[in-house]
Amino acid sequence: MIEFQDISKVYQGKTGEIHALRHVNLKIGDGEIYGIIGLSGAGKSTLLSMINGLEFPSEGAVLVNGKNICGMSFSELQKIRRNIGMIFQEFNLLNSKTVRHNISLPLIIAGEDKAIIRERVNKLLKFVGLTDKAEQFPDQLSGGQKQRVGIARALVTNPSILLSDEATSALDPDTMEAILDLLKRINKELGITIVMVTHQIRAVQKICNKVAVMQSGKVIEEGEVFQVFSDPQQEITKDFVRTVVPDVITPTVCRQIRMESKGNYEILRLKFTGSNALGDLIYQINTKFLLKTRILHATVTELDEQTLGILILQISGAPEQIAEVEEYVRASGVQCEEVKCQYGF
Ligand SMILES: Nc1ncnc2c1ncn2[C@@H]1O[C@H](COP(=O)(O)OP(=O)(O)OP(=O)(O)O)[C@@H](O)[C@H]1O
Ligand SMILES: [Mg+2]
Repeated sequence: MIEFQDISKVYQGKTGEIHALRHVNLKIGDGEIYGIIGLSGAGKSTLLSMINGLEFPSEGAVLVNGKNICGMSFSELQKIRRNIGMIFQEFNLLNSKTVRHNISLPLIIAGEDKAIIRERVNKLLKFVGLTDKAEQFPDQLSGGQKQRVGIARALVTNPSILLSDEATSALDPDTMEAILDLLKRINKELGITIVMVTHQIRAVQKICNKVAVMQSGKVIEEGEVFQVFSDPQQEITKDFVRTVVPDVITPTVCRQIRMESKGNYEILRLKFTGSNALGDLIYQINTKFLLKTRILHATVTELDEQTLGILILQISGAPEQIAEVEEYVRASGVQCEEVKCQYGF
């Protein structure tokens, strides 16, 4: 368990104080893949680097497995750090050393026996799919392969926590997907807790089960990925989520509706979750109310092994009939809200 208790961090900048973190409270449970997302400067890296004592808070406490990182002796901190691996956007590899040597480094520093190092590194090379690259140098590898080396090095001390600071941000989309798959395997097969800082909502969508959204040093929204993605509260969260789970009709469809529509109509956005996601509500509406319904937008998204369906319907009819439909939809346990036909609603 990682616990941030009322963390604030103030840096002394050239032009005055910079409040990088403001009263952050967060709990990260064992076995989770926890995403921390936010725009540049939100305080994500500062928060992450407090877990392994690369930074210390100005106020508050950081507990890792019940122990406060602040005020620890150097040797206690070293012990904790051996239990926490870290990966970075820039890989941070030594270009003059082979892949094998780079991965071995934390164990060489710890004075581990050579035969043990060799065995451990061979296992990890296999795990990350780089056995044939062991004697090559980082310059001879692609970005994705370099990140695999970084991941193997982070795992070589057998940690129970892996910290990832924008580890997929410099990679092309296919390579990003492959590295995310690898991180998911690390969590599932090795039981390692992962804390992942990113500005890529796709990364959170694909592998995280929990997410915190940061803005200006604060956590402004937090919870289960499925919950946050299916019902985002803050504007910035809505903007992030919309890029992977579109929930608006396109400008062209909007224009068409405005040009052609006669009579009364409403546009409703329905959100289906859980067992409702693949239900037959549209059929029910059509047979029960005998109104004209038209699908303007539909998506089905997989989130943390659950399904979220979003449907935007145009329903034509008398206002009181449409109100009845809305009531019926809500009574079926489906989120329903009216949306306006204008670009950017
Ligand atoms: N060592 C430092 N000295 C002074 N200011 C700092 C230092 N480190 C970070 N900051 C400032 O603290 C704020 C938060 O920075 P941080 O690096 O945590 O943001 P971030 O969310 O990781 O951003 P990015 O997405 O760009 O990596 C920023 O305003 C940054 O300029
Ligand atoms: Mg950062």
